[in-house]
Amino acid sequence: MPIDFDTIVALAKNRGFVFQSSEIYGGLRSAYDYGPLGTALLRNVKDQWWRSMVRMRDDIVGIDSAVIQSPQVWVASGHVASFTDPLVECRECHNRFRLDKLEDPTQCPSCGKRNSFTEPKHFNLMFETNMGPIEAEENKVYLRPETAQGIFINFENVRRTSRLKLPFGIAQIGKSFRNEITPGQFVFRTREFEQMEMEFFCRPEEADQWFEYWLGAREAWYGDLGMKPENLRLRAHDAEELSHYSAATSDVEYFFPWGWDELEGIANRTDFDLKAHTEMSGKDLRYFDAEANARFFPYVIEPAAGATRTTFAFLIDAFHEEEVRGEARTVLKLDARLAPIKAAVLPLSKKPELIEVSMRLADELRPHWDVEHDVTQSIGRRYRRQDEIGTPFAVTVDFDSLEDQAVTIRDRDTMEQDRVSTSKVVDYLRERLG
Ligand code: GAP
Repeated sequence: MPIDFDTIVALAKNRGFVFQSSEIYGGLRSAYDYGPLGTALLRNVKDQWWRSMVRMRDDIVGIDSAVIQSPQVWVASGHVASFTDPLVECRECHNRFRLDKLEDPTQCPSCGKRNSFTEPKHFNLMFETNMGPIEAEENKVYLRPETAQGIFINFENVRRTSRLKLPFGIAQIGKSFRNEITPGQFVFRTREFEQMEMEFFCRPEEADQWFEYWLGAREAWYGDLGMKPENLRLRAHDAEELSHYSAATSDVEYFFPWGWDELEGIANRTDFDLKAHTEMSGKDLRYFDAEANARFFPYVIEPAAGATRTTFAFLIDAFHEEEVRGEARTVLKLDARLAPIKAAVLPLSKKPELIEVSMRLADELRPHWDVEHDVTQSIGRRYRRQDEIGTPFAVTVDFDSLEDQAVTIRDRDTMEQDRVSTSKVVDYLRERLG
């Protein structure tokens, strides 16, 4: 059964995953701050993406480009001209709406007035600011709306310095900004978000083959990290849906509490971007094939995922409720690689002799994993809290530990317990956590 949206939002807030931004000032709509657990979960998602896209491959390298780039970048990319949504304003209440998202384009959803909309205007989604102290048209710059262009404008720098030959990819993780007209569904669509994008450059005649390859590889990535297969699907865009640069796009979709929605877009961007930047900058971004003694623009296959959105989907997917001995148990069944805390060390009571042992054990585990040492409340409540934040293992130090130098390790999912010698806890966890 799909998890109720309000329940997951409440858990995210109450357990310190995500907070409303600027909450003490009444909150800034659709802006969110990541708390200690959310930061760790988001970082683990990004690390897993980087691991599979960069670290484990010899044909992809990573970069980190500036958020603010030359405004010409966005003219060449087509964002200044085409990165727009059609916006209408109600003449009665002056609220604005995206025309293409209105259930009934003849009636204002805010005040109910009929036929009150203005003609649609194209509203550019890029955030603008000024470079330097003077507000003037010539100082206007944009916050990047995607990380991809930072890769295209560095294509030649990276190719030359990394001595890469086709096919090869350049990956980047970072913040992007879009002045979305209808942000919503918690962190699903926000105006400031993080993307994980990779541009894979290949010979034009091999583009279809690489497109298929990346569809498979990217869908598999979510499944490998534990996302349920029944909640994942690929959906091809039809012709009207394609972006201005794309010859083919498919989305990896997730079954969110409100239905199927996009996690990631995989597009065949053809040679659109390298050609456009060559024309705009006057710098030749063609690839030189020494064997064939020929220059050409490579094609690009782009898997473009949202880090914040994907983190939210992993949180939803992991949410699990069950009844154990007549009591409700909430568990985040996160893959151990994503879990914010890998092991909790819990002394059975606050007795100093137990705390001494548990603190020493936590210190021993810390160089290896993110560990929490928790001494508050009853052991039952502490287990429940660790289940709710997805901690795979709870290590309990009890009074017997002082005699037998052993501890009890509880598995989050099976709730089975093993008695393990204190000196073997690192080995025990390494076998299971890696
Ligand atoms: N370079 C291509 C590109 O940016 P996109 O489909 O617009 O393509 C890629 O964005 C991914 O970025 C989306 O699939 C989504 O996961 C994420 N994303 C886009 N807009 C977002 C927003 N307003 N809030 C959160 N994530 C967003």
